[in-house]
Amino acid sequence: MSKLWGSRFEKTTDALADQFSYSIGYDYRLAIYDIIGSIAHAKMLAKCKIISTKDSAKIVAGLKKIGQQIEKGSFKFDPKAEDVHTNIQSALKKIIGEAADKLHTARSRNDLIVLDIKMFCMHELTNTVELVTQLQKSILAFAEKNKDVIIPAYTHLQSAQVVLLAHHMLAYVEMLERDKTRLEDAFIRTDSMPLGSCALSGTTLPTDRHFVAHQLGFTHTTDNSIDSVSDRDFIIEFLSTLAILGVHASRMAEDLILWATQEFNLVDIDWALCTGSSIMPHKKNPDILELIRGESATLISNLNQVLILMKGLPLTYNRDMQLDKPPLFESVDKTKLILQLLAKTFATLKVNSLTRERIQNEAFFTVDIMEYLIKKGVSYREAHDTVGRIVKGCLDQGKQIADLSKSELKKFHPKLEEDVKKLLNAKVSVKIKQSFGSTNPILVDAQLKNWGKKLK
Ligand code: ARG
Repeated sequence: MSKLWGSRFEKTTDALADQFSYSIGYDYRLAIYDIIGSIAHAKMLAKCKIISTKDSAKIVAGLKKIGQQIEKGSFKFDPKAEDVHTNIQSALKKIIGEAADKLHTARSRNDLIVLDIKMFCMHELTNTVELVTQLQKSILAFAEKNKDVIIPAYTHLQSAQVVLLAHHMLAYVEMLERDKTRLEDAFIRTDSMPLGSCALSGTTLPTDRHFVAHQLGFTHTTDNSIDSVSDRDFIIEFLSTLAILGVHASRMAEDLILWATQEFNLVDIDWALCTGSSIMPHKKNPDILELIRGESATLISNLNQVLILMKGLPLTYNRDMQLDKPPLFESVDKTKLILQLLAKTFATLKVNSLTRERIQNEAFFTVDIMEYLIKKGVSYREAHDTVGRIVKGCLDQGKQIADLSKSELKKFHPKLEEDVKKLLNAKVSVKIKQSFGSTNPILVDAQLKNWGKKLK
């Protein structure tokens, strides 16, 4: 296929240079958006009397034919045609002849590529939001199913206090909700139609860019032709949202990997999401979760890649920008897999029956004992000091707090009564929490209900 800019050139490009610079190997994925955008553009050209209605109709019919082939997967992309735009342009010429040459009027590949990627991003932002919702639903169902389960919670990976498993699961739901609002927010700024900005300065032809925007379902038309062809913020925003989402997925995966160990022994991951060891027959390894944790590195580095790609580029278009697509596509594809696999993980996750034994340790209830004293007028500092002495005393004497007699308790603090021992119980510990957002079962139940309604 001859180059779109061939006539001015004194030589054909070097074969290795072609191989190095062609993007059809990946930007073919934008073909359907290129077709949809081109149809709107051809209609606008006729409406504004820039080309004849007859030529426009021919172009539209030809593009629709190519579009159908693309959707069926039967369209043959020519690896010798530089990029997706050139591929479609030359296919169109084969179908409708000379009229095809008029499609490129009042546009350039510089604005067309931005249109294509923006449409791709808007489609995939919406898909990602849907997949995040599916994951939230899967987590919520797991939480509902195990509503009464109490688990140890950790700070510094040291046993801290007990919480409802559902409360921990709802933390994931909250994290994912923020990801969703970030995706929705990114959509708002992507939703501005760049086509018709042409190379960078606009055109002398009497186009109607708003008509194109309206036909394509964009809310806005970009206001500045220079910014239109230079802007890749929308890709960076999408990638940064996916990077944060990736970090969330990684932390959830890490929790479950830990919880599934012999040492934590809180959950069982479904066999279908684990693999065995080629040498140790007893092993059940959580490989899928490990890879989810690992792929978050991909999502972070793809964001970095595009940030670094863009940071030194002068306005307007530079060919470097072609390289924004592989990291974008990779992050979108990987995120979709991660979200679906996490949803499957929670749908099949089992709570280990031994969980109850794990929450007997009296150390989980020291803060509750402190607050028992505070409620009796003891200062925070004194209460902390008292409970610290109790813990040390018990450890030194090899005793449990539950074993202490009334007089032994009184030695630690005169305001301690035997009823303090009622606090040495996980069920009580969650029940007596009362602050908004705490692990209190009534509050957690209300949140489960709220999320259930919200995610419907
Ligand atoms: N393949 C190019 C890209 O992805 C399309 C735009 C090319 N424009 C140009 N003037 N060479 O950025």
